[in-house]
Amino acid sequence: VALIPQLAGYLVASGGKRIRPMLTLAAARLCGHRDDRHIGLATAVEFIHTATLLHDDVVDESDLRRGQASANAVFGNQASVLVGDFLFARAFQIMVADRSLETLGILSDAAAVIAEGEVLQLSASASAETSRDTYMAIIRAKTAELFAAACEVGAVVADRPAAERRAMRNFGMDLGIAFQLIDDVLDYSALQARLGKSIGDDFRDGKMTLPAIIAMERGDEAECAFWRRAMAAEAQRDGDLGQAQALIRRHGALEATAAMARTHGAAACAALAAFPPTPLRATLEGVVAFCIGRDY
Ligand code: IPE
Ligand code: IPE
Ligand code: MG
Ligand code: MG
Repeated sequence: VALIPQLAGYLVASGGKRIRPMLTLAAARLCGHRDDRHIGLATAVEFIHTATLLHDDVVDESDLRRGQASANAVFGNQASVLVGDFLFARAFQIMVADRSLETLGILSDAAAVIAEGEVLQLSASASAETSRDTYMAIIRAKTAELFAAACEVGAVVADRPAAERRAMRNFGMDLGIAFQLIDDVLDYSALQARLGKSIGDDFRDGKMTLPAIIAMERGDEAECAFWRRAMAAEAQRDGDLGQAQALIRRHGALEATAAMARTHGAAACAALAAFPPTPLRATLEGVVAFCIGRDY
């Protein structure tokens, strides 16, 4: 059906950083894997990611992705949801072709957890009361779980012992948490043209991400009242985003969030100590540095 390659091709051709499949490729090689079996798994990982982006932009009503109009803005919500489903199904076909129940288990668990994380986030939205614990549960599930799975399957195809699989998984988990923390900083502070996504979407959608949670924790009564009103459904006024950004700046909430990303980045690097100090390990340490320092 022509619309499927049209819509999927539109998003795929716009690039993206392709961090997750690169993690699978690098993890497998760092674990000593030699043949090409990991390439299919890396492909499945990026298909799962692409499917979640199609669905996420519908849910978030985002109109910009990878520097161009989002697929839902161009083709509509219905087409985005259905082609997202198709990509999920294709990912599962690719995983089955790998003929390993273990990799299939890891990646299908990740797909379920991501969906659960997105629903948890939806349940927590439109309210300023989101706790740090709930926020961490959301970002672990919606983002870090796929990073963890991408890394773990690399160690599994290389047939490494359980301790190394766990180390790879932990590396991906901490990296993924750091990645999403920085994403949430960028949603308030990035240059839109550089980021390729709209700024302020989290605030507009009533999502309490860590910068907002910290600003509210450090705010006075009036500021808390502002957050409560602005996060409620359909209650935002012109100028609210600017006000939120000012409060976040005043309380150093972006710096505090970035500091937490650095802590998780350090934990990710510590997990890599289980592997030999090869150039590939140094590359993965470089990925951690990139994810923490990124501006897109
Ligand atoms: C976007 O992920 C979704 C999040 C988890 C924040 P990426 O920033 O990796 O998206 P692309 O693939 O590079 O566009
Ligand atoms: C990222 O969600 C996680 C998934 C796509 C599952 P976000 O909504 O935070 O990411 P962006 O900012 O749209 O990329
Ligand atoms: Mg989104
Ligand atoms: Mg979202």
